Order: sequence, then structure tokens, then C-alpha cells
Amino acid sequence: MQDFILITGGAGFIGANFVLRWMQTKTAPVINLDKLTYAGNLQNLASISGDAKHIFVKEDINDRSVVGRLFERYQPNAVIHFAAESHVDRSIHGPADFVQTNINGTFTLLEETRAYWSSLNTDERKRFRFVHVSTDEVYGSLNAGDPAFTEEHKYRPNSPYSASKAASDHLVRAYHHTYGLPTIITNCSNNYGPYQFPEKLIPLMLLNAINGKPLPVYGDGKNVRDWLYVEDHCDALMLVLEKGRVGETYNIGGWNERTNLDVVNAVCSILDESRPSGKPHNSLIEFVKDRPGHDRRYAIDATKIANELGWKPKETFETGIRRTVEWYLNNEQWVKGVLSGEYHNWISLQYVRK
Ligand code: NAD
Ligand code: TYD
Repeated sequence: MQDFILITGGAGFIGANFVLRWMQTKTAPVINLDKLTYAGNLQNLASISGDAKHIFVKEDINDRSVVGRLFERYQPNAVIHFAAESHVDRSIHGPADFVQTNINGTFTLLEETRAYWSSLNTDERKRFRFVHVSTDEVYGSLNAGDPAFTEEHKYRPNSPYSASKAASDHLVRAYHHTYGLPTIITNCSNNYGPYQFPEKLIPLMLLNAINGKPLPVYGDGKNVRDWLYVEDHCDALMLVLEKGRVGETYNIGGWNERTNLDVVNAVCSILDESRPSGKPHNSLIEFVKDRPGHDRRYAIDATKIANELGWKPKETFETGIRRTVEWYLNNEQWVKGVLSGEYHNWISLQYVRK
């Protein structure tokens, strides 16, 4: 039997980038388990449709019998767990889905993984990996001048999203500690790049700016995030899978701290060059009511993964943001697809005019 890899959430932003990269560079076939929520989009995977190495399964990670059957049928030697509700603002409007998928779903996946893993022989058990893809937001908020988050930083999640991810991290850790399941946790900073759903800062601002719509910056726009180009994240995850130490956590970040205003201005100035509109795009910036409980600053210290696994991001913010803007400008059909349907409901719920 060939070695399969089970990916959850592989039709979302990072998961799809990972699947596409995996298919280009690795031979093991992929089982892609994704419920296709509003954030899941098969158009992200259009370039591999029909490829027998990619088996797409539209199901929920909460469905224990489905997950169990997939393990039984394909006998994967690794799980990369991306599936989650991922947007902070949505978690403020409706936290229940976050608890259901991020906590209960991860629990279900862990239980079925444990049952399957326990049935393997000693060599197979040693080789097996469960990589849990998590976020730097579990560490809470930093003040200006505080050192960046290391793997030892205390967990202090502040939003329903980060709290649900923190809970899932704790479950994964416990399954290693208690049952010996070979898990690895990664905590990554803000990703950007192709296929990101335009509810998140960069694609939202980019598409609004192209369409001459207001650019809604929360609060004073001085909140800081540490930005990482999505392909760099995917490369880091592949290295973690291959060479990461079992039971460990690896922080992944871009060494690219920027204020939200810096980010929006960077997008606007690239558009000023490639899509001049007669006035600077950043004249569309509007300061709007702040996000409740808005974390001020995130920053990742990615020294451990650099020293242990030799990973460093290839893109700087300047090169990555340029590639991203170009991708959105060159992929009108994809953009058209995501801007229809459910997207309108979200925008009118979240961005009530003052
Ligand atoms: P996303 O919202 O774009 O995609 C999530 C995917 O999971 C979607 O395809 C969705 O259909 C699927 N999904 C949701 N609930 C499911 C369920 N119950 N069963 C099966 N599939 C389900 O998210 P993303 O930005 O690609 O993030 C992927 C992972 O990376 C998440 O775990 C997130 O917490 C983590 N992460 C994201 C970032 C970021 O900046 N986007 C940064 C660090 C970590
Ligand atoms: P987001 O992309 O939602 O990621 P996260 O909250 O997980 O970091 O937001 C990034 C930053 O941009 C965050 O500080 C909130 C801010 N933001 C805005 O100012 N306006 C917006 O419309 C959005 C979506 C985000």
C-alpha cells in the first residue's frame, strides 16, 4: 500500500496552498478532508482536479465514523490538521462554530487518530506524525518593545478564536503526553498570499481598493502583526513533518512586523503603480470602530525552527506583498467566485456604516 497523507481543511487558504505544493514536490497521495464551509473553496484546487493523487472528501472532522473509515481505508502515515474556523471577527459574532470545529473537531480527530495509531505495528507507530497547525494568537497580545513570542511564552488567548485554538493545542499536547501519540504543534503568525478569503485584512483591502470602496481600518491602525508569505509557511510545515521532533512546538513567523496602516499603505502603493485610478488608493482609508478586545501586537521569535530545522522565510514582506497583489490582479475569475453568495452577508453584518 502506498503512503497516504491525511490533510484536514485542504480547501481553505493555507491548506490549499499546502496541498498544491505537496502535489508538486512529493509523491505520496493526499486525502483532503474538508467540510467546505464558506471558507473552503474547490476553485483553490482547480489546477489539480482530476489528479488521482488527490482524493477530496467533503465531510466534517466532527463525524467520527467518517474519520474512522478514512483511516481504515487509506492507512495514512501522517495527518496535517488545518481545518478550523479561522476568522477572529466571526468568532466575536458567533463563537459556537469555533468551539465545535476547533475544539470538538480536533478532539474527534485525535480520538480517531489514536485508535488507528494504536493498531499499527511498532515501526509504523514510530513513523507516524500528527502535525497540528496553530496560531501565534494563543499567546495573547504584546506591548511595543516586549520580546517576541518564543515556544515557552505563556498561553493568554483573548478572542473566542484564539481560545478555541489554545484549547485544541492543549488537547494535542495531552495526547502526546498521555498516550504517546507522535504529535507536533506549530504556532504561526499571520499568513498572506494567493487564495486567501477576502474577509482577512490583506485581500479585503486589496479588493476594496481595486473597486474604489472604503478601506475600513480598525481603531488607530497601529496594531502590529508579523506577516508570513503562505508558501514559506507551507515549506516550514513540510520540514516539521519530515524532521521535527515529536512532542515539540515550533513557532513559525516572518520576522516582518508591520502596523495595519503600513500594510494597507503597501497594498495601495503597489496598486497606484499597476492600477492607477487618478488618486492615491490610500485616500480610501476610513478609520472605523475598533474590534472588541483587539490584540495590540503579535510577533514571533522563529529562532528554534531556524536553528533546529534550518528554516527561514524566503520572501520579505516587500516581495511577498507584491506577489500577492499580482496574483489577485491576475485571477479575476477566482475573485469573482469568492465575492458572490455568502460573502455579501458577512460584509453587511460586519461593516455597518457609522
Ligand atoms: P481557512 O478559514 O481559510 O480554511 C479553513 C478550512 O477548514 C476551510 O476549507 C473549511 O471548509 C475547513 N473546515 C472548517 N470547519 C471544518 C470542519 N468542521 N470539518 C472539515 N473541514 C472544515 O483557514 P486558514 O487561514 O487556511 O487556516 C488554516 C489553519 O491555519 C487554521 O487551523 C488556522 O487556525 C491556522 N492558522 C492560520 C493563520 C492565518 O493567518 N490564516 C495563521 C496561523 C495559523
Ligand atoms: P485579520 O486579517 O482578521 O487577522 P487577525 O485578526 O487574525 O490578526 O486582521 C489583521 C489585522 O487587521 C487585525 O489587527 C485587525 C485589522 N483589520 C482591520 O483593521 N480592518 C479589517 O477590515 C480587518 C478584516 C482587519
